[in-house]
Amino acid sequence: MLRILLLTILLTSVAYFVLNAQDYDADSKRISQINRGNQLVNEGRCNNCHTPLIETKDGLIPDSKRTLSGHPSDSEIPEIPAVEIDSEEWLKFLYSLDSTVWAGERGMSFSANLTPDPMTGIGKWNEETFIEIMRSGRHVNLKRNIKPPMPWKDYAKLGDEDLKSIFAYLATLPPIRNAVPKPVPLP
Ligand code: HEC
Repeated sequence: MLRILLLTILLTSVAYFVLNAQDYDADSKRISQINRGNQLVNEGRCNNCHTPLIETKDGLIPDSKRTLSGHPSDSEIPEIPAVEIDSEEWLKFLYSLDSTVWAGERGMSFSANLTPDPMTGIGKWNEETFIEIMRSGRHVNLKRNIKPPMPWKDYAKLGDEDLKSIFAYLATLPPIRNAVPKPVPLP
């Protein structure tokens, strides 16, 4: 009887350690995936367009309170001048825009909110949605092509594991509610 009891205890402890080790493996895999995603977001310079800048005494710096939350919904939408694209006036206008706004032949576009807010960000997406968008250059829900200057063709070359890592990292950002305005056509 005692032998059976000891054997049961032994087997239970072995199972406990095996299961714990599996959890530990899954956690460390997830952590290295998130770190890789963070690295790819930095190398891919997603912040250049998707994080608004803030004025400080050292000049303009990315606003860490609004990391990757896209063009701020509370900032005024600039008016597109009725001048020829690439004319001097046009370039002056282009340089006056902040880093989350762009204008060109396909009108004015505003960088998207990449934080996991379910209403205004990517909180309702899963890995598959993200990969599909990054590879096809098409918004799944909006049913339209992603406009310039989003360099999706460069990121489309990344492998599945890299795109999954970017998504895993984005999912760890604090969710920020910021409804980015719709693109504005040329006048
Ligand atoms: C040069 C500027 C620029 C860079 C760099 C950039 N983006 Fe974008 N991105 C944009 C703009 C602008 C839009 C919105 C375009 C539109 O309205 O169609 C956008 C849209 C997106 C969308 C679609 C969002 C949606 O709601 O469907 C995703 C996803 C995205 N970007 C991810 C990224 C990631 C990840 C990186 C870095 C690896 C990145 N972007 C780098 C400018 C940029």
